Amino acid sequence: MNRFALGLLLFSLASIASAKWNGDVADRCFCKLSGEVDDCSCKVETLDSLNNNQIYPRLKSLLARNYFRYFKVNLKKQCPFWSDDSRCALKDCHVDICQKDEVPIKTEKQPDNESNNQHEKNKYTMESNKGEQGGGDCTEERQLSALDTTISDEKKAEFQSWREHDESLPMFCEVDDEHSNDLEYVDLLLNPERYTGYKGLSPRRIWRSIYEENCFKPEKSVGYGPEPITEADNYDSATSSSAAFLEAMCLEKRVFYRLISGLHTSINIHLCDQYLFPAKNGFGPGTWGHNLKEFQRRFDPEKTDDHGPQRLKNLYFTYLVELRALSKAVPYLEEEVFYTGDAQEDADLKEGVKDFLAIVKNFPDHFDESQLFKVNSQEMLQLKSEFVHHFRNISRIMDCVGCDKCKLWGKLQVLGMGTALKVLFSGDSMAGDSTVNASLKSDFQLTRTEIVALFNAFGRLSSSIHALETFRALAR
Ligand SMILES: *[C@@H]1O[C@H](CO)[C@@H](O)[C@H](O)[C@H]1NC(C)=O
Ligand SMILES: *[C@@H]1O[C@H](CO)[C@@H](O)[C@H](O)[C@H]1NC(C)=O
Ligand SMILES: *[C@@H]1O[C@H](CO)[C@@H](O)[C@H](O)[C@H]1NC(C)=O
Repeated sequence: MNRFALGLLLFSLASIASAKWNGDVADRCFCKLSGEVDDCSCKVETLDSLNNNQIYPRLKSLLARNYFRYFKVNLKKQCPFWSDDSRCALKDCHVDICQKDEVPIKTEKQPDNESNNQHEKNKYTMESNKGEQGGGDCTEERQLSALDTTISDEKKAEFQSWREHDESLPMFCEVDDEHSNDLEYVDLLLNPERYTGYKGLSPRRIWRSIYEENCFKPEKSVGYGPEPITEADNYDSATSSSAAFLEAMCLEKRVFYRLISGLHTSINIHLCDQYLFPAKNGFGPGTWGHNLKEFQRRFDPEKTDDHGPQRLKNLYFTYLVELRALSKAVPYLEEEVFYTGDAQEDADLKEGVKDFLAIVKNFPDHFDESQLFKVNSQEMLQLKSEFVHHFRNISRIMDCVGCDKCKLWGKLQVLGMGTALKVLFSGDSMAGDSTVNASLKSDFQLTRTEIVALFNAFGRLSSSIHALETFRALAR
């Protein structure tokens, strides 16, 4: 053994020893991340290695390609449930309120009459007087949550050809809203999912509605009610992912809960992974980095009433479900053209996707959706339809998110998950041979937007699992 190898060995022994010493505290968040993912036979460790070594690097390069980086979305839909209550919601606040005297010219958006304005003004003052809760820097939040909608003229011309191509394909089903004038392409690479400063009552209300009004609950109380929503816990809601709570529900309801919880976890990991630290001297732009403290605040068992580790585990569950959907869609996706109008680019991308799908397909331990909705009964049909309705409703709640960037990623990830579920439960047979087959377009079809959402949503989960390595290392 040469000196270098010996050094390395000693070093790793030393780090194992020190890991033992610090292990308890450092590993607390990760204590559930070993062994089987709940309701699946697959192991967390297997997924870590599959994702970090094979899936993540490939997806990262795929998602930077033109086909995947432009997402068509309608961010102007009205929230159907309540009026926007985000503390920094007043989009032209800097014109109307903050600098009213300095801006003599009215901007084009002036629908408000005086009494409305008065109301908004009061609301704004009230919110910013709420200290930690409503205060903070709205200018910063607005900057961070604003979308960069830059799209070159050249690209716009290309989108026209994308559209012509897409419309020339036979369509058998209409995706919600596919032709609305409010649909816009957004460049996802220009608008990464990261910390935006969006916090307080508004996001809490979103998550509370999702968990309390749109998730399933055990029929009988199991001692664990939904967690109280506290002032201090600014993101949190009724995420009662404790084992007893979940075990008191049937498999299908548990699956639903875990899917949503996994998505929630993933969003929170991104926020901690790309966090904006204020500039040291208090001036100038801050710096982006990993925020271990924030991560621990959200996932440490002591700080989350023991829920954190289970939430992290649910991320793996959601990952497995979307992975399975991709695998089931392989026959379909292999025949997809991934049209962008540039023949060379399209061919390259198709190769790249094929290479990625080969890994997905070869993974032996997929989530088994055939276990769901298995019993053929009236109740089961009812449950399935509730499942679908709840999920649709959650996608509508995304229109209530009061921060454009968060809304963009929320909508994308919910659509991606919805697409995954559509793949999993399409056709007569939910299991076994895939009915998801490009030669059978009359039975099953995915639009460009759905494909882009599916890949990007899975990309988000993949990047979260990858980021856990960073936090694990930082914790030591
Ligand atoms: C002004 O706003 C008030 C309160 O929302 C409303 O009742 C009234 O009809 C509005 N007036 C005009 C001219 O739009
Ligand atoms: C949809 O979600 C909203 C907001 O949480 C809730 O008030 C409503 O009851 C839900 N509707 C259905 C049909 O579940
Ligand atoms: C797709 O369906 C066609 C027609 O039924 C069939 O011939 C083909 O083998 C299927 N392809 C795959 C990959 O299952």
